[in-house]
Amino acid sequence: MPKLVWINGSVMPLESAVVSAADHALLYGDGLFEGIRFYNRKVFKLDEHLHRLYRGIAFLGFKMHIPFEELRNLVLSVCAQADLDNGYIRLNVTRGTGLGLNPDAIDQTPNVMIMINTLALYSQESYETGLHVVTSSFRVIPADSLDPRIKCIGRYASNILAKQEANRRGAGEALMLNHQGQLAECTGDNIFLIEKGIVRTPHPSCGILQGITRDVAIQMAREAGYTVEETILTPYDVLSADEAFLTGTAAEVIPMVSIDATPIGNGKPGPITNEVIRRFRLHTETGTPFGAPATTLV
Ligand SMILES: Cc1ncc(COP(=O)(O)O)c(C=O)c1O
Repeated sequence: MPKLVWINGSVMPLESAVVSAADHALLYGDGLFEGIRFYNRKVFKLDEHLHRLYRGIAFLGFKMHIPFEELRNLVLSVCAQADLDNGYIRLNVTRGTGLGLNPDAIDQTPNVMIMINTLALYSQESYETGLHVVTSSFRVIPADSLDPRIKCIGRYASNILAKQEANRRGAGEALMLNHQGQLAECTGDNIFLIEKGIVRTPHPSCGILQGITRDVAIQMAREAGYTVEETILTPYDVLSADEAFLTGTAAEVIPMVSIDATPIGNGKPGPITNEVIRRFRLHTETGTPFGAPATTLV
């Protein structure tokens, strides 16, 4: 089975996988997810993704019954059962099953899903020529409503609205600001700007998901000898940047070459961006190898 899903202990082909109609994430968005890539049968930054997931579980008060190590082994085992060398894992944990908002009134056994799939967000050409981005009219949800560091399924409705807006305007991504008018992030990626050789990205307090690819890009830029600052940025900084790029597990590292149809720098991917991309691609080889095919599943 090249693409498959493990749900609550059973493995099945993607096409036949089903969840309960009363799943709390299906009813209310009350769930968490991680998107994780694997390269050459090695899962990239698996522990970092799992740590973020378990921090979200603690924050939302899910009664998670699968310990960290067990879930880690499960992910590796399910990957080994899928016949793919490179792909995308979608890991979902929802609060449980039942109608009504009150968690105490439902079956709070989390529903856990590990989907092994493939995902290519952008064409190969976009990685060479860069992505056009528009500023979205949708702001990120403020941290005092739902902390953006929680990768909660429910919060993505506004990101989808922003993505639709980008599609309508012929762009590849939408840049979302926070309620102070500062840069936050794109619908599924973090943003980096480069000016006079300094690499800058919004500080986590600006309302971003603290992306795992963002952390890798920071590390790659620092290893290449550049100063990286996590700071407050505004739309002015985008227009005055020499280069820009976006980072995310799905998008990986992709150059951003315009904002609202105005070129950034010379409108082409810049040398520092290309160096970060080169180092990122080498770094994707450092993942955790798949476990042996698990007969113990189910
Ligand atoms: C809103 C948002 N910001 C940023 C990111 C990038 O995070 P990561 O690099 O951990 O995939 C994502 C990824 O899903 C996202 O959904």
